[in-house]
Amino acid sequence: MAWIQIHLTTDRESVPLVELLLENLDTLSVTMEDAADQPLLEPAPDEAPLWDRIRITGLFPEDSNPELLSKEIRSGLPSTTQLQLEVERLADQVWERVWMDDFHPMRFGQRLWIAPEGQNPDNPTAIVVQLDPGLAFGTGTHPTTALCLNWLDQAELEGKSVIDFGCGSGILSVAALLLGAGKVTAIDYDPQALQATADNAEKNQAGENLTIQDSRQPLTTVADITLANILAATLVELEPLFATYTRSGGDIILSGILEEQASSVIEAFSDNFQIEPPVIRDGWVLLHGLRH
Ligand SMILES: C[S@@+](CC[C@H](N)C(=O)[O-])C[C@H]1O[C@@H](n2cnc3c(N)ncnc32)[C@H](O)[C@@H]1O
Repeated sequence: MAWIQIHLTTDRESVPLVELLLENLDTLSVTMEDAADQPLLEPAPDEAPLWDRIRITGLFPEDSNPELLSKEIRSGLPSTTQLQLEVERLADQVWERVWMDDFHPMRFGQRLWIAPEGQNPDNPTAIVVQLDPGLAFGTGTHPTTALCLNWLDQAELEGKSVIDFGCGSGILSVAALLLGAGKVTAIDYDPQALQATADNAEKNQAGENLTIQDSRQPLTTVADITLANILAATLVELEPLFATYTRSGGDIILSGILEEQASSVIEAFSDNFQIEPPVIRDGWVLLHGLRH
């Protein structure tokens, strides 16, 4: 079966009305995307902020009349509404597998690979995290995750305890466990992330030494290594907590930091940590430090 998509680019204020019009026309789904490259980084789980310019897509069955639908939408909006309208015919595909065209095994450092389920790299010494893209952040395609995976690959993890704060998909927790960490505590405030971490750990048979915890629960553990790939402002806010989580002489790995934010994060951590010069990838930074 094929489909018809109607793409409507407009401003934030018009979204509720456009959405209502699409629903009244029995759209099968409504999708919203950024229309002007305006990143909205890391909204909290209960927030759903919108971009200033938005591309709203309504999906309709193939036998719909796109001219009629377009006319109905235009006539339902005030004449002053700025609206760009495009119609697209969409051929049917095996949607569950389409993402695989863009997601292949990826290597981080010497030994560590992230691979979609069933696509093992042709390398007998590879340490492979099996992971399919899902709702929680963390597939290895973002530079901040890649920086953390590269760090884990070269680190001496055997038997070490690790805290993965902001675990997302659990990618760093599972990688640390497969690379030899003795115990990992994965923490997040998003229930979807906690679930994804549990699922990915199970898929990789890495659940035995993993504790998964909501960040609102108190943590009494002190770890050899604390990892946190969040945003700069959150890292700065959480510095006192990370100082209590990391044993004296232990490692801290911070990412999610834009290059121009690195100095402010280093400053915020310098009382309790000796931070090394930044490692940079595509404008994003990883900071490694040792707890005083
Ligand atoms: C950028 S993702 C990182 C995911 C994964 N660790 C990785 O490296 O790809 C950041 C994660 O931190 C979580 N997070 C952000 N702020 C947080 C906070 N204040 N407390 C707990 N988790 C937080 C988000 O829910 C998200 O899953």
